[in-house]
Amino acid sequence: MIIPQPQKIEFKEGNFILNENTVVSAANEVKSVAEFLVSELRISTGLPLPIEICDSDKNQISLSLVDNDKLEDEGYELLSTIDGIKITAQTPAGLFYGCQSLRQLLPPENFDNRGAGAPRNVARTSSSAINIEWNIPCVSIIDKPRFKWRGMMLDPCRHFWDIDFVKKLINLMALHKMNIFHWHFTEDQGWRIEINKYPELTEIGAWRNEDGKKYGGFYTQKQIKDVVKYAADRFITIVPEIELPGHSVAAISAYPELSCSGEPTEVPITWGIHENVYCAGKENTFTFLENVISEVMDLFPGKYFHIGGDECPKANWKKCPKCQERIKNENLKNEDELQSYFIKRMEKFINKNGKRLIGWDEILEGGLAPNATVMSWRGIEGGIAASKQGHDVIMCPVTHCYFDFPQKPKEKIDIGGSKTVPTKKVYEFEPVPEELSEEEAKHVLGAQGNLWTEHIPTVDRAEEMLYPRACALAEKLWSEKDCSDFENFEKRLELHLKRLDVLKVNYFKSLNNI
Ligand code: ACM
Ligand code: ZN
Repeated sequence: MIIPQPQKIEFKEGNFILNENTVVSAANEVKSVAEFLVSELRISTGLPLPIEICDSDKNQISLSLVDNDKLEDEGYELLSTIDGIKITAQTPAGLFYGCQSLRQLLPPENFDNRGAGAPRNVARTSSSAINIEWNIPCVSIIDKPRFKWRGMMLDPCRHFWDIDFVKKLINLMALHKMNIFHWHFTEDQGWRIEINKYPELTEIGAWRNEDGKKYGGFYTQKQIKDVVKYAADRFITIVPEIELPGHSVAAISAYPELSCSGEPTEVPITWGIHENVYCAGKENTFTFLENVISEVMDLFPGKYFHIGGDECPKANWKKCPKCQERIKNENLKNEDELQSYFIKRMEKFINKNGKRLIGWDEILEGGLAPNATVMSWRGIEGGIAASKQGHDVIMCPVTHCYFDFPQKPKEKIDIGGSKTVPTKKVYEFEPVPEELSEEEAKHVLGAQGNLWTEHIPTVDRAEEMLYPRACALAEKLWSEKDCSDFENFEKRLELHLKRLDVLKVNYFKSLNNI
């Protein structure tokens, strides 16, 4: 009944029932996890659930840290008996995941943040009569994740997503025990992150003219700090992406001197790959990018920084005297090596600031930067090549992890044409390719789902594209390799969709799919 399927779960006779005398026991160092749990449960159940340190072990949910190397960094044990619940872990993250499992053991209504008791469609408050029994089956769970990188990527550039949507996505990631949110901030069609040093990036670069109507938006640094905290409270690290050297027309619209020609241009309204890219010959391109990256690094405490690196046409570099001069002076063979020079130079800067660089798999072309992590998207081949070279890899091949592809043929206008990615296909995804030796396989940190949004203009459509595919991917990243089959997953999904109903998620409802 839990998604993702725990490593080991054993059901026993009986239930524990939460009531008005149930307390949550948590030591100070894990109080924030207890607070997360009760802040949600108090609203939905209407129960007081005070947090206390108490000696009696009756009628309590106890959260505690223990030494248990088996559980590693994110694992937990959950034991529920008719007398109470015990969750133990080596880290607060492990306890948090234990709490997420606990919530899935409770009736789906515990996800209702309007308060319990009242029938559906009626505004609820916590004082409404409670007609749900908050029972938890007696069970013993031992659980930990298979992969360290359990991610989702959001593109707020092609269509813009407000903070409420971003937080809802992050909250749903946490429900599925995912831990990396990759936020793709810059694109040809819009620059979405406030940079104090270059205000025109958002004054000009965040807006495009769609038949006389202005479309766009951006996140202020204040909003971003708030989201970083919201994510951290849910043990999710945000990986920011500032795309270079391609997919950068929005920045060039604001600061035309960053391109080879230096000619004025506009934020484009058409999708695809644009030829206007950052000039790799001018020094001021690098100064600009280092200043931008410095500001962005300060906002995100995580260790990874994504620099894009995909789909950079080289036509302008071929005819630009400054780019050609760079090729000559740096003894580079061609424009592929110029791209590699660009990425390596950014990596030096990023490493010097204590962070690690990630790029899309095109960063393999012309030679990989020494410490780079590769995100394999065009297939799994880039990931195989990089791990064979001793580099870390994150898998997100279009064939299984692109949630902008349709779920059934002729669904709507989508990227991908006739290529579909139904939930079953996501569920069949194996992040570690057979070609890799045991040693090489250790470089596969995990995988992520990518939501590009060219053809996704609304929240309803976005959620329909995300779920339940993200549920399937989450299970592939957390659970043991052969822990379950699709039929078993589908059975658990039936109940899981009730949770998503309560959370007001507009998941994909085609019966062919689920
Ligand atoms: C990509 O989808 N261009 C990384
Ligand atoms: Zn140039």
